[in-house]
Amino acid sequence: MSDRPSGDATPASIVDALKAVAGNPPKVRASFAKGWCVRGTYTPSDRAGDITRSQSFTRPSRVLARFSVGGGNPNVADTNNLVLRGFGFKLGDDEHRSDILVESAPVHFARTLDQMLAFLEARIPGLDGKPDMTKVKAFSAANPETLNQANYIAARALPGSLAGTTYWGVHAFPATNELNETRFIKFKVVPAGGEITLSEDDARAKPADFLHDDLGTRIAAGHVRFNVMALLDRPGDPTMDVTMRWPEEDSRDEVRLGTIVITGFEPDQACDASIFNPANLADGIGHPPDEIFAARRAAYTISLAKRR
Ligand code: HEM
Repeated sequence: MSDRPSGDATPASIVDALKAVAGNPPKVRASFAKGWCVRGTYTPSDRAGDITRSQSFTRPSRVLARFSVGGGNPNVADTNNLVLRGFGFKLGDDEHRSDILVESAPVHFARTLDQMLAFLEARIPGLDGKPDMTKVKAFSAANPETLNQANYIAARALPGSLAGTTYWGVHAFPATNELNETRFIKFKVVPAGGEITLSEDDARAKPADFLHDDLGTRIAAGHVRFNVMALLDRPGDPTMDVTMRWPEEDSRDEVRLGTIVITGFEPDQACDASIFNPANLADGIGHPPDEIFAARRAAYTISLAKRR
């Protein structure tokens, strides 16, 4: 268990720790600092209403989105396979807008805010600019579940394209359908053209910055399409611990809610002027019950204020 007294981690102290881990670069996001703003469209499937009555998912709409690379360092290399790939998108009409944030691993690295703060503090670089690995190892040994995310991405090849990466919403979201039936779902955003990964040799041959140009080429060719899937819960599935996957999560029944097509880049300011707010969910999708979700909106708002 984390050795810190419980209950004193706050969204503000977490944002400070995220920034400190990245060396406090100014004027950038505390997490997923490197990224590109894009636009597109969302087209619902005819089964979306079976899962949710949210008009963000049951109606066609314009999409504003941002692809990103994990961590608070805006110059992180695209060849770095220790960090996540992120995808935030806003869909729905003005009255029924929802923000969905997904990342390239199905679990988060901490179960509680205290554990998240302790995880980050163990990784804050020392005077030599590097984290103290003895501290990191000791923390990980005492909190093994905090390695689930890193182990998930380490077991996979380097993402070769933001357009060819599967993204996960991590939390269990309560979804209420048009018959007022509610169940938990997990979001999974799947590239329609399949996964694109790089072998170690290919990765070594890649420049540190290749994802933007790759994305531009695929957008121009009309090849950036994602299926937004809802993974369906089973009785007894955990909903409070985001370090854990549901049992047999990869073989769950899933329903395609709709399809996103990315059609062009937007000026970064269109995304940087505000936040992708995980709590902004139109009626039909509720807030996940876990402690980590509850902290996110405040953390994003604090990060926005710091980067303005
Ligand atoms: C557990 C699931 C999580 C997912 C899937 C997730 C995903 C993301 C994504 C995709 C972004 C980039 C948004 C953009 O492009 O503007 C982001 C940004 C960010 N995340 Fe998270 N995140 C998670 C948890 C957290 C938690 C627990 C915290 C802190 C309490 C946090 C703090 C932040 C901050 C501060 C930003 C930058 C916000 C901004 O400046 O606009 N995230 N996250």
